[in-house]
Amino acid sequence: MARVAVLKGGRSLERQVSLRSGARVEDALERLGHEPMSIDVGADLVERLRAERPDVAFVALHGQFGEDGTVQELLEVVGVPYTASGVSACIRCADKVLAKHAMRDAGIPTPDFYAFNETAFKELGAAGALPEIEERLEFPIVVKPASQGSALGIKFARTAADIPTALVAAFSYGDKVLLERYVAGRDLAVSVLERNGGPEALPVVEAVPHGEDFYDFEARYDIGRTEFVCPAQLPDDAAERARALALEAYRLFGCYGFARVDVMMDADTDELFVLEVNAIPGLTDTSLLPQAAEAAGIGFDEVVARLIELALARTAPA
Ligand SMILES: Nc1ncnc2c1ncn2[C@@H]1O[C@H](COP(=O)(O)OP(=O)(O)O)[C@@H](O)[C@H]1O
Ligand SMILES: [Mg+2]
Repeated sequence: MARVAVLKGGRSLERQVSLRSGARVEDALERLGHEPMSIDVGADLVERLRAERPDVAFVALHGQFGEDGTVQELLEVVGVPYTASGVSACIRCADKVLAKHAMRDAGIPTPDFYAFNETAFKELGAAGALPEIEERLEFPIVVKPASQGSALGIKFARTAADIPTALVAAFSYGDKVLLERYVAGRDLAVSVLERNGGPEALPVVEAVPHGEDFYDFEARYDIGRTEFVCPAQLPDDAAERARALALEAYRLFGCYGFARVDVMMDADTDELFVLEVNAIPGLTDTSLLPQAAEAAGIGFDEVVARLIELALARTAPA
């Protein structure tokens, strides 16, 4: 039995998802015989960790501060072992620009891109480079903030006229944006979970949009407009390739415990491209990692138990 601080909520835009992830983790911890205590992450985080002295922390936070290494850094300082990836993996996964450079350097396919911060536009005339970028990436072009999740701030620009508003939208979420080549194809997610001594890629989940209006890109991400299929029905060896690629990305970033790798499959060529690695995937009852685990015969409680075990193991002497 361990006293487990469940870190949830927080200030990120994904607060609501995190509260649901956290609540579900607490239920699982109770069933496993642990003693959960909720911490809604705020200004008193360090103080509460010092006061409560939990054996371990379960990080059920998504997005800024929870998934980007900030909370992990504080946990390191206070000396509380915690679930999932460490500080450096979190930092590298949370910044899409950094992550995409790392993948490109390592030969992991990711859609072509160019990235700028706001200063480049305000002080270096980056707007003047847009025509070349548009020519190289070809429309539609995906414009997204470097650090967000849940499709927040993502716009699909169909023409040059859409780019300025898309940039403004993306900059409203943060200082760095990327313009990325659009992959027309299937939207896949590969969850990775460490079991029996090593990371294992779980069955692939496909997000299938319905109410098919191909040009209404944003509607694809509205709740209820997307159906999740697991295991995804993919041609030939595509599932195997997707799982191998996910493991490669997981290892590249040095993730720990679990992660979810978002992948696009080109509809014409079946080529796979990694979009991003989520260091703390959603854990709600509609989230993809729990669904994938279920499809592999791994119940939610087992996922939680495994993460706690790994968290406690990371501090044990080698
Ligand atoms: N280059 C792209 N081509 C096609 N679809 C994309 C592309 N980038 C993002 N998307 C769509 O937007 C979703 C969210 O993008 P992603 O990069 O995973 O950011 P987030 O952190 O918001 O999940 C993807 O699951 C995919 O459906
Ligand atoms: Mg994603």
